[in-house]
Amino acid sequence: MRTTLFALVMLVLAVAQADTGAAQNAAQAVGDPANGKAVFAFGNTSCTNCHGLEAQGGWGPDLAGRRITYDQAVAAIRNPMWRMPAFVPSQLSDKEILDMVTYWNTLPFAPAIGKWRNEAPATGPRAQQLAVNILGCGQCHGNTMSTPRHGAAGMNADFEWFKKQVYNHATVMPEQWKQLDAERQRGRVRMGNFSPRRVPESQLKEIWDWMNELGMVVPLVARLTGGQPSATGTTYTLEVENEGLRDKGLTAEDLTITLTLPDGTKAVSATGTGYQGTRKDEKSNADVAVWRVPQLVAHEHQNFTITLSGTPAADAVPRGTVAYAKPTAKADAVVNFALQRPGGRGRGGV
Ligand code: HEC
Ligand code: HEC
Repeated sequence: MRTTLFALVMLVLAVAQADTGAAQNAAQAVGDPANGKAVFAFGNTSCTNCHGLEAQGGWGPDLAGRRITYDQAVAAIRNPMWRMPAFVPSQLSDKEILDMVTYWNTLPFAPAIGKWRNEAPATGPRAQQLAVNILGCGQCHGNTMSTPRHGAAGMNADFEWFKKQVYNHATVMPEQWKQLDAERQRGRVRMGNFSPRRVPESQLKEIWDWMNELGMVVPLVARLTGGQPSATGTTYTLEVENEGLRDKGLTAEDLTITLTLPDGTKAVSATGTGYQGTRKDEKSNADVAVWRVPQLVAHEHQNFTITLSGTPAADAVPRGTVAYAKPTAKADAVVNFALQRPGGRGRGGV
């Protein structure tokens, strides 16, 4: 009787202990879902390009409401099964992974997988299918691999550079940023590292050759600022910069800058290399101011100003394009700009 009672007491104690143990583990494994959402959806991570804005899936699997555990997530992110790039702790901390897991598990299970962000047409080149549909580079870089082609022109790079950028990205990218402009503050590296066993060199070579066929793109940035009225009119400044590596990156040649005047305004004066005056643009039926600039070498920037009289029609802001004739590229060679607040940058997307 006594021993039975003793055993019973021990059993109760053991159960109670096991309970607190489980509770403690659960407490440890709960992150901050609000921060998880911020990191996943609004952070600098690009996870949503493949997993969907609400973690409903897309090119990558759905994560919402699937009860993925912290350990599973760490394994999947640090050492992916297949085509996902690996993100290292400097890009995404363990705590941030825990917060994301907690967030995904607050979401309902997705009734249907979301659409792919980008899809290469079945009639397109094989290398494009590889880059966009099969390896997923194009889920972030679009159907013409815009950012990698800008980077290649800015570094006047070869295939060795390309391989390092893909296989060892988290290490190589900050070094390149320092080389390009040590002063400029940049956020964390966004793209992860791809494994050569999942993305073999032969496939990268196919993509590289196709990128060369499309043509590398000089990394031009155009920023239009200003808008303070004065006695003579309202003056705007356009800064055009070649962000390539000094003495190495490609030169943009024979540039045409076209600035569309908002309805209701007229050009009073302008400064900067090669100002051609204004003309009527047939296509948009608006007045445009035009500059022709012989070249912009790597790391060079030039300023162009224009003073407008009159009052722009509601919501109309000056906007325009920078195009160049050489080197030739079949896509992405035109930079769009529009009036922006101080601090913003001219080239969006990746
Ligand atoms: C290029 C597209 C892509 C990006 C970007 C991406 N993933 Fe993935 N992810 C995948 C694919 C595809 C898989 C399936 C496994 C594989 O192919 O590696 C996956 C698998 C996962 C899994 C495992 C899912 C499961 O079913 O167990 C998690 C967790 C995950 N990703 C989280 C993330 C997080 C967090 C980020 C951002 C830091 C991210 N992924 C960025 C494509 C991507
Ligand atoms: C998660 C989105 C994402 C995926 C997937 C991705 N990239 Fe990137 N890549 C980026 C971003 C963002 C940058 C800009 C630097 C940074 O923050 O990492 C970049 C930079 C690069 C660069 C260097 C560009 C420069 O300015 O020098 C190359 C080259 C590149 N990517 C190639 C690839 C290839 C090839 C693949 C597929 C095997 C790929 N990327 C997949 C997001 C991605």
